Amino acid sequence: MDTANIQEIRDGARLGVISGVTTNPSLAASEGIGNAQDYKAAVQEISDLVDGPISVEVVSQDAPGMVAEGREIAEWIPNPWVKIPSTPAGFEAISILARDGIKINQTLCFSTNQALLGAQAGSTAVSPFVGRLDDIGHQGMQMVAEIVSIFRSYDIKTLVLAASIRHTLHCTMAAQAGADIATVPYKVLLQMAQHPLTDAGMARFQADWEKAGKS
Ligand code: E4P
Repeated sequence: MDTANIQEIRDGARLGVISGVTTNPSLAASEGIGNAQDYKAAVQEISDLVDGPISVEVVSQDAPGMVAEGREIAEWIPNPWVKIPSTPAGFEAISILARDGIKINQTLCFSTNQALLGAQAGSTAVSPFVGRLDDIGHQGMQMVAEIVSIFRSYDIKTLVLAASIRHTLHCTMAAQAGADIATVPYKVLLQMAQHPLTDAGMARFQADWEKAGKS
């Protein structure tokens, strides 16, 4: 799930389909979180609700700052993935943190070359941002497919995590493109579960059952 909203995570987790959570500073800010202490408390609560990796983003712009933050975040919860941006400073930080054994979600990835560099640096997962590329007239999902195909060709172990998912078609297409993971907003998750024929079918079963009971 792609959210920092505790209630959404609680509701999503009950469905039994959630294998991790991704957060970022904007998602945290939308929950009124604006400092490391509150972010840590929220992440710890999320980690108690979900059995899987929780991605937590650094806010530093330089490599030493990212490394220091990453090392701290790694102590917050049992299964952290530290989110590091796809920048030169980010690659430097990824390579240092990966050598420490810290799991990395390489974020803000907008090109296949950025994904290749992150994989070389030691990213556990790379997050191509599909929706934001679509927004500027590119085909974000093509990048996901390209990264998957190259990683498979070279047996690169870095996972491909489709991010910036905007609608249900993105979820299907990410799976079709071979993405290992998709991080999905709660609204889209609920839409994935919906089908009008399922609703109509349930209503008919119910009506037929009640009719038979009265006859
Ligand atoms: C997840 O890791 C990303 O931070 C997130 O999917 C970004 O999505 P957005 O483009 O909707 O902000």
